[in-house]
Amino acid sequence: MRALARIDAGAIARNTARMARAADGAAVCAVVKSDGYGHGALTAARAVHDGGATWLAVAAAAEARMLRDAGIDARVLVMGALDPEELAVALEAGADVVAWTSEFLEALPGDARVHVKLDSGMGRLGTRDPELATQLVEAAGDRLAGLMTHFATADELQDTFMDEQLRRFVAWVTPLRERFPDAVVHAANSAATLRDPATHFDMVRPGIALYGMDPFGEDPFARELEPALTLLTKVLAVKDVAPGESAGYGRRFVAPAATRLATLPIGYGDGWRRALTNNADVLIGGRRFPLVGTVSMDNITVDVGLESAVAVGDEAVLIGAQGPERILAEEVAKRLDTINYEVSCALTPRVVRA
Ligand SMILES: Cc1ncc(COP(=O)(O)O)c(C=O)c1O
Repeated sequence: MRALARIDAGAIARNTARMARAADGAAVCAVVKSDGYGHGALTAARAVHDGGATWLAVAAAAEARMLRDAGIDARVLVMGALDPEELAVALEAGADVVAWTSEFLEALPGDARVHVKLDSGMGRLGTRDPELATQLVEAAGDRLAGLMTHFATADELQDTFMDEQLRRFVAWVTPLRERFPDAVVHAANSAATLRDPATHFDMVRPGIALYGMDPFGEDPFARELEPALTLLTKVLAVKDVAPGESAGYGRRFVAPAATRLATLPIGYGDGWRRALTNNADVLIGGRRFPLVGTVSMDNITVDVGLESAVAVGDEAVLIGAQGPERILAEEVAKRLDTINYEVSCALTPRVVRA
């Protein structure tokens, strides 16, 4: 074993149940795109079912196809834009799709299920024009399955743009709800689900929270979420270094004093980003040690000092808990000046999921 992503399916199920409680009666559509935010889409799909999710959402037709091929029979929504070839794959997989143009709607067969998307301010997918959106709803006929939008700033608690988007969506959707009572109305991502019950409608679409990461980028435990990912590896070598000796490409660590370095078989080829050079901690034996030197494609080095008993074969945790210590994906994200989503999605297929 080089690097292992140990996934706690029970935690994903409990996080799903926690989001279902927050949704307070609204259905849960669990977002499992990008291989379940790096956790494994199939593991996630099964776990969220155990936690009470009744729908799954993905971005790409191929992701829906993969779920079906593995025997997942939940309702699946493909949220992304689809070219004709991808649309055929999505429909063949029995997935619902999203429409915001007449051309796309006209290409849908009579037995398709479609969700019409209003762009209430995300500025990405969906139509900005509520009148066109209403025309699409009317033209969808029996194919109409849902009415949706997506928030741009739900995770920014001090920002009020979510309220503005909600206002625009409510103005559009309220009369349609009366005319099309069977259409499922949905808008809320994880942050919106936790932040404002007015965003829940018939169904919520959480992703990040299901994996036990904080949609607000801080502390998952404060949101009653349990991290589901432990990223670990093993010490493969330990060596003494004298003052002035260096480790890694570019000699970006030069020992100021005698110390001991542990080499760990994980690198940017596994998704442990090079920007973590001299910029991360690693847990070994329940203690934090600094990653020193350049992150290379396949290895990193950790300064374990002369006093520790770190030895070849010891387990090393890069994300997760060991003894009294814990490194959150949120901590790694802050060091990288990014978001927790990117930390787990960055893990490459070389990291064994177990
Ligand atoms: C349209 C849509 N809905 C819901 C989600 C889930 O968002 P989150 O992971 O922030 O809960 C996403 C993810 O980016 C999305 O693109």
